Amino acid sequence: MQNDLIARHEQALIGNYSKLPAVFVRGRGTTLWDATGKEYLDFFAGFGGTILGHCHPRLIDAAVRQANTLWQVGNQFYTAPQVRLAEQVREKAFDGRMFFCHSGAEAMEAALKLARLAGGAGRPKTISMRQSFHGRTFGALSATCGPAQDGFAPLLPGFVHVPFNDPAALEAQMDSTTSAVIVEPVQGEGGVNMPDQDYLPRVRRLCDQHGATLILDEVWTGVGRTGKYFGHQHYGMVPDIMTLGKALGGGLPVAGILASPRLAAFFKPGTHGCTLGGNPICAAVGSAVLDLLEQENLPAHAARCGTFLMDAIRNLPCAGRRIVQVRGLGLFIGVELAIPDATTVVRAALERGLVINVTQKNILRLAPALIVNELQMQRALDILGAVLESV
Ligand SMILES: Cc1ncc(COP(=O)(O)O)c(C=O)c1O
Repeated sequence: MQNDLIARHEQALIGNYSKLPAVFVRGRGTTLWDATGKEYLDFFAGFGGTILGHCHPRLIDAAVRQANTLWQVGNQFYTAPQVRLAEQVREKAFDGRMFFCHSGAEAMEAALKLARLAGGAGRPKTISMRQSFHGRTFGALSATCGPAQDGFAPLLPGFVHVPFNDPAALEAQMDSTTSAVIVEPVQGEGGVNMPDQDYLPRVRRLCDQHGATLILDEVWTGVGRTGKYFGHQHYGMVPDIMTLGKALGGGLPVAGILASPRLAAFFKPGTHGCTLGGNPICAAVGSAVLDLLEQENLPAHAARCGTFLMDAIRNLPCAGRRIVQVRGLGLFIGVELAIPDATTVVRAALERGLVINVTQKNILRLAPALIVNELQMQRALDILGAVLESV
């Protein structure tokens, strides 16, 4: 069945993803099963989406209840699940207004359009960071800086890229024509790159000095993953716009922006929209995600687990030979390897039943669901240690 499905996939779908040889048929918590019945530990959570693992009973309950109540109405009407999710996000983040869509890229588009409306035509410049990733649509791809852009020139005009975590380089580019500055609190695709503690506050000050909008892309770092509800909360500052995606719907397509009331006022009826954005079923599940984070104090659990995992990886017997650096925040972990191509590590881990990821060729990424427990972490460490030893 596994090989047959892979062959059918190749006939029926476009080959825009590099695939790994597993057909997953079932998931529960942090465990996945493939079509042969083999069990895997999921330590990448669907690129960060399944923040509470697979098939969480409380999320199933929220989805089923809402599916039996109201599926979808146009955004010219009011619905309670949207309002509740927006209230929860602003309560946990900052005083702002939400716009809902389905993906991180769309959230970035909304943020860019809002910044353009706020700044006007006299501010055509947008500054983002080298090695950043903001999505695949043309606006988000223009903000992105890396191989995702290859072959798509000409991208949108006005985008300038400066080194991440370098306030002087940013300052040199800031002027009265700058519409927005875009930063990931921790760079994800770029290699789980951490900023210095004072970097984001300095970016905040530069934006204030030049009247530019500060957009934080929290698609990876939002919703508890880093050990706080949102990544910027580690750095004692607040953006003008925060983009969210991935974990907000616990694995269902929920994304959006939270914008300060001043900026939010630039979106008026007709300026922007998304037909299924804020869909009641997806929004109800998003609310259940935030309820669970709070009731089970999961951001704090993520912080503790992250510290445990990072220390344990640093102490693996092979660490001195194989690992250059372990870095991250909470359960957003990068392991820089002294091996030029870590794809072999990801494949060998998969063979032994551990799902992890690689970015920038040699940086492993671990991002399990926030419900991960000690036993599962220990098992993942055993597999990782054995794999790093063997490659
Ligand atoms: C920081 C960041 N922003 C935006 C995106 C785009 O999100 P999506 O794939 O949902 O469009 C991603 C995807 O990985 C991301 O990591």
